[in-house]
Amino acid sequence: MSAKKRTRVAFGLAAVGALTIGLAACSTGDSGDGGGSSDELTTVGFVAVGPEGAWREANEQNIQDTFTEEAGYDLKYAPATNLDQKSQIDAFTSFVDEGVDVILLSATEASGWEDSLKRAQEAEIPVILLDRGIEPDDDSLYVTRIAPDNVEVAKEVGAWAAATFPDGGNYVVLEGPAGVGVVNERNTGFDEGLGDSSLTKLDAQTANWSAEEGKSVFETMLKSAGNDIQLVFAQNDEMGLGAAQAAEEAGLVVGEDVKIATIDGTKNAMQALADGQLSYVHEYNPLFGDTALEVVEKALAGEDVESYIVVPSEAFDSAEAAQAVLADRKY
Ligand code: AHR
Repeated sequence: MSAKKRTRVAFGLAAVGALTIGLAACSTGDSGDGGGSSDELTTVGFVAVGPEGAWREANEQNIQDTFTEEAGYDLKYAPATNLDQKSQIDAFTSFVDEGVDVILLSATEASGWEDSLKRAQEAEIPVILLDRGIEPDDDSLYVTRIAPDNVEVAKEVGAWAAATFPDGGNYVVLEGPAGVGVVNERNTGFDEGLGDSSLTKLDAQTANWSAEEGKSVFETMLKSAGNDIQLVFAQNDEMGLGAAQAAEEAGLVVGEDVKIATIDGTKNAMQALADGQLSYVHEYNPLFGDTALEVVEKALAGEDVESYIVVPSEAFDSAEAAQAVLADRKY
């Protein structure tokens, strides 16, 4: 994410004018296209990813646990059908037609959102990106993106790898699905973090965020390399856990023959790190519902919002570090 994206961004005067007028109408119930008197619930259309793994489950549950009726919200949860972008675009369109007050979007695909976002803008419905970015990244089409910084997270993984293998070695990358924005951001960050390391990239393939595919893909990679792979960078926990199974079945000892680094920090991965089945886990904190609620309130009040809100995330590089947090792990 470029530095520009972290600067505080004020809406253009015209946009602020339109947004303020639109919101003023909403609050007095004059808009006719959604919103109502201030004692009514704020309607939030959540265009979500749906079942995808432990990280996604934690993230989407946290959003639903935050935007409750008690908090003044009517959250309309719309998970994708089998991760299909068309089902997301259909839900997005329905929310615009229904005149919800705000839309939260976790995109299954990075591209293909321009028309939908323009429709929401014309309807003066603010859109907030959760986790996933869009490509091309036209930040005039959304209020902000709330997520840990994938580039920085992956850069720390790359720096750890370079420091762990000062004399080099062979590595492979298990990627998320093609077309998902975070995949490119994580590759960019990892490569930056590697710097001038003499680690050699043998292969990179998608394992679609899945443990089963992570295992089968890494099995094939090991066979192709005659087991001569010293590092796996798995872009999420599940794929790394699958690779650990493949390593074990190939007679390799994780931590000695091969090291495995992952991103997410879910309970299973932290337990695996504590047990020595993973070597490094970088958190990609999914619990940002409170931040999302604050941003919704600022956006609906017409206040300035930073164009990219980075969610802090920690790195864990040892069994001891994992043990120290396991008991209180929230996801
Ligand atoms: O976009 C975040 C990624 O999506 C997580 O790292 C992965 O586990 C999830 O499926």
